[in-house]
Amino acid sequence: QLKIAVIGGGSSYTPELIEGFILNYETLPVTEIVLVDIPEGFHKLTIVGQLAERMIAASGLPIKLRMTMDRRSALEGATFVSTQMRVGLLDARARDESIPLKYGMIGQETTGPGGMMKALRTIPILLDLCKEMEEVCPDAWLLNFTNPAGMVTEAIRKHSSIRSVGLCNSPIGAYKWLSSLYNVPISRIHCEFVGLNHLHWISKITVDGQSKLAELLDNREGYSAKNVPQFAWNGTLLQSIGAIPSYYLKYFYLQREMLAEQMEAAAKGESRAETVKRLESELFEIYQNPDLKEKPKQLEQRGGAYYSEAAVHLMNSLYNDAGDTQTLNVSNQGILDFLPDDACIEVNCTVTKDGPIPQPLTVIPNAVKGLIMAVKTYEQLAIEAAVTGDRGLALSALAHHPLTSSVNDAERMLEDMLEQNQQHLPNF
Ligand code: NAD
Ligand code: G6P
Ligand code: MN
Ligand code: MN
Repeated sequence: QLKIAVIGGGSSYTPELIEGFILNYETLPVTEIVLVDIPEGFHKLTIVGQLAERMIAASGLPIKLRMTMDRRSALEGATFVSTQMRVGLLDARARDESIPLKYGMIGQETTGPGGMMKALRTIPILLDLCKEMEEVCPDAWLLNFTNPAGMVTEAIRKHSSIRSVGLCNSPIGAYKWLSSLYNVPISRIHCEFVGLNHLHWISKITVDGQSKLAELLDNREGYSAKNVPQFAWNGTLLQSIGAIPSYYLKYFYLQREMLAEQMEAAAKGESRAETVKRLESELFEIYQNPDLKEKPKQLEQRGGAYYSEAAVHLMNSLYNDAGDTQTLNVSNQGILDFLPDDACIEVNCTVTKDGPIPQPLTVIPNAVKGLIMAVKTYEQLAIEAAVTGDRGLALSALAHHPLTSSVNDAERMLEDMLEQNQQHLPNF
């Protein structure tokens, strides 16, 4: 028996995950998939679940699929639990993106104040899920995609005994970029990632063992995803760091330009949340076509495209004790010597049946240590705020975030955000 519970099963990304299970069935023989959602998501769950059923039927594989709102029954006997939920749905995301703009600060769903708001809503729900897992499936692995994935994973590792790994599609996005740039399969490429989730740098890149970093530092486009505006990097900066930054670092290195871009988009009704709402209704329209039996191409418009490769690869390697390398969010355990051992970092790991083991880093550019440390400090304060409901900690988290321009503005912004999220903040 190999049972998978997917929390937030009504997500439009679910067909990706199903495709991943079908393609990897030989090494990961899943017997049952249970898609779990809540009443607000029931409509989406039904549509996406029926597509999943058609995909599985077309594959001819003996995988059972179930949709439910009874989380406990879904967790019973699960080997892997994967979370892809959005507390408060896209309306909450729209507020995460728009409220900071009113106070002149970056409005992004994972980075900066919007990301903190998402963390305050999400961490208590995920800890509640973990409590239920401790009762029902204490040995299951939790694969956490729910953003802000690094912070949520750190909260789980600090406040629960469940074994949890945080995942992001952007390291795979970097490999896909390099694979098409050099026209070689991903298996011949190796990258070393340094930093945190949505705050990493790639400090080493080889193809067939040959370094490509020098020429890539001349490539001012870098890699990106559909959800982050495409600004070119400053070439002098890239040369002097000697590493390729995550596209999320544009919010830090190009704060003024990104803020102006967000203000413009918001004025036109084209914030990312609004764009995603449109994309999502198009996708669900397509999903309802009874002849559709595969993941539609249009899903690539979402920023999290290919995230299921990360999920299925990780399950596969844990299940088969593969010993391969994957970029994951795990406890630091001394890898970055300037961070606490229990800080969650994004790093290459060797994946064994007992879990991912972080690999020592060979390069840590001096220039990036300060930013990593500052953002980790914010994350630690915000995690404690989420768990305790302490407004002082929440304000301190914002005050120590590099994207906060004034603590006084931040205080008003925080009041606004807490008020508008009241129904999703049991601790406040
Ligand atoms: P979405 O708005 O479609 O939400 C997915 C589902 O979660 C919905 O059907 C919703 O009803 C359900 N849900 C909400 N609260 C729930 C609860 N308490 N229990 C169970 N289900 C619940 O969101 P999405 O765009 O599919 O994204 C889902 C999540 O995954 C987000 O948190 C997003 O940030 C994250 N994500 C992360 C990555 C990554 O790189 N880590 C990639 C893609 C998406
Ligand atoms: C990816 C990130 C994900 C994020 C997604 C948003 O770049 O790695 O963590 O959830 O983008 O995409 P969306 O289509 O929802 O804006
Ligand atoms: Mn991500
Ligand atoms: Mn309250």
